[in-house]
Amino acid sequence: MVSAPPDLSVVLGPLTLSNPVLTASGTCGYGEELLPYFDLSRIGGIVTKSLSVLPREGNPPQRLAETPAGMLNSIGLQNVGVDAFITDKLPLLAKSGTAVIPSIFGATTEEFAELAARLDGPPGVAALELNVSCPNTSRGGVEFGVDPESTRRVTEAVRRRTKLPVIVKLSPNVTDITLIAQAALDGGADILSLVNTVFGMKIDVEKRRVVLASGSGGLSGPAIRPIAVHLTNRLAQAVRAPIIGIGGIGCAEDALEFILAGASAVQVGTATFVDPCATPKTVDGLAAYCRRHEVAAIRDLIGGIRRNRGGTGRAPG
Ligand SMILES: Cc1cc2nc3c(=O)[nH]c(=O)nc-3n(C[C@H](O)[C@H](O)[C@H](O)COP(=O)(O)O)c2cc1C
Repeated sequence: MVSAPPDLSVVLGPLTLSNPVLTASGTCGYGEELLPYFDLSRIGGIVTKSLSVLPREGNPPQRLAETPAGMLNSIGLQNVGVDAFITDKLPLLAKSGTAVIPSIFGATTEEFAELAARLDGPPGVAALELNVSCPNTSRGGVEFGVDPESTRRVTEAVRRRTKLPVIVKLSPNVTDITLIAQAALDGGADILSLVNTVFGMKIDVEKRRVVLASGSGGLSGPAIRPIAVHLTNRLAQAVRAPIIGIGGIGCAEDALEFILAGASAVQVGTATFVDPCATPKTVDGLAAYCRRHEVAAIRDLIGGIRRNRGGTGRAPG
């Protein structure tokens, strides 16, 4: 007898996905770069490159550097702007059969709110992800996402202007991520995603110069996965909201670490640069894992980590 295929669908508050694997913002443009490689309906969703009110050219080169088990970037939020996204990119994406989640960022709370309003209306948008790892010019350039009050205000401003599910993407570059998460939930966030990149720097010792033109950048890839799994687990214990795990995921086993730690879905980022099919392969791998372990539905694994005796989550050392 052939058993029924595992149910990979997941429900994250107001957002239902056909499976729990999405692309991460900034690692596949607006989705069209992936079209030659696979049918987008195979994956749970696409999170677009972060969009601003006006188009941006981003930082000057060099903007990327390889590091052990990771990558540093300082792209500087280059994007086509929200209007070009709505007219040129969204119509094709909306027909792709996957959940389309624009990522948005602004220099002020008002810009975030304006972006939310513009994207609430055009057909085909499933949710919004707020990239709060960007400078708040009204508060001296401090990132929205490192300050609970800025995070709450920006989320609240977006919440007022849209009925779409709101995901707030958290930065790992904070002392206590649970405080920022709670502020986002207080502001009306439905879902939390984590993590954005970890601050990093690379130096060319022969030239005695920093490698990235901007000096420091954001570290991504397998190097940050244990940090992201730890923070996912910490957050899952601290809040009740659905969580999307991000950081160094390139295959089903990586994704399962996050799911067992408490994430309801995951995003694949840097791995797509190595293998453009990393996201659908992760979906297939999850189905295979469920079959192998006789798990009927992937949601049964969310937060299913088995604690070792003595594994109290205390500080190491
Ligand atoms: C080249 C590059 C560009 C990125 N651009 C964005 C962006 O525009 N907005 C955003 O929220 N995150 C951006 N990110 C962060 C990723 O979405 C993701 O949070 C991070 O890379 C960790 O996941 P990974 O290790 O799977 O890449 C970018 C990452 C990379 C590598």
